Amino acid sequence: MSEREDLVTVARSLYLRGYTFGTAGNISVRIGERVIISPTNSSFADLVEDGLAEVDMDGVHVAGPKPSKEVPFHLAVYRARPDANAVVHLHSCHATAVSCLADLDTADAMPIYTPYYAMRLPCLPVVDYLPPGDAALGPAVEAAAAKSPALLLRNHGSIAIGRSLKEASALAEEIEEQAKLHFLLGSRGRNLTAEQVAELRRRFQ
Ligand code: 13P
Repeated sequence: MSEREDLVTVARSLYLRGYTFGTAGNISVRIGERVIISPTNSSFADLVEDGLAEVDMDGVHVAGPKPSKEVPFHLAVYRARPDANAVVHLHSCHATAVSCLADLDTADAMPIYTPYYAMRLPCLPVVDYLPPGDAALGPAVEAAAAKSPALLLRNHGSIAIGRSLKEASALAEEIEEQAKLHFLLGSRGRNLTAEQVAELRRRFQ
């Protein structure tokens, strides 16, 4: 499957399973020195292979329709993580709700309740609020992405990073489901202990 085909398939799957809605979110894949990204104001439901935007690593628009306004943070992720080839940004309900909590640990947004969440990311940093598309999101996301393959944008949504689109998508889903648990549990949650988390990371990373 080509990267373009993969991007269209992953985006549609996220849309059909309710992880994104309307024209929220954006998705990209890196191919060498080029990044293929969803067009601005497009829906994950109806992306097509030859209707994707293409930019170079400086953000210059080289082909296709007008790219997502979030090109600066997608490129920032690729600068921060040479092993990353895909970025998924969602406004999924529960992860976005966590990003809007008044009382939020911006170094690590959620407690660890389950093994897979612990295994897949070291922490969930939160980038301070900036308007969508703001160029300053680039350096802020670059710093956070260096610490973790997933992060939240304050009052906005999530960013998940992977070596492939499937990996980035799976991580975005893991964060959304963990955020759902966070609200379901409220103050009744029992976190994994620091020892249990360390043991999981030893075994599975
Ligand atoms: P784009 O339509 O420009 O990709 O913006 C949508 C979005 O989610 C902004 O963060």
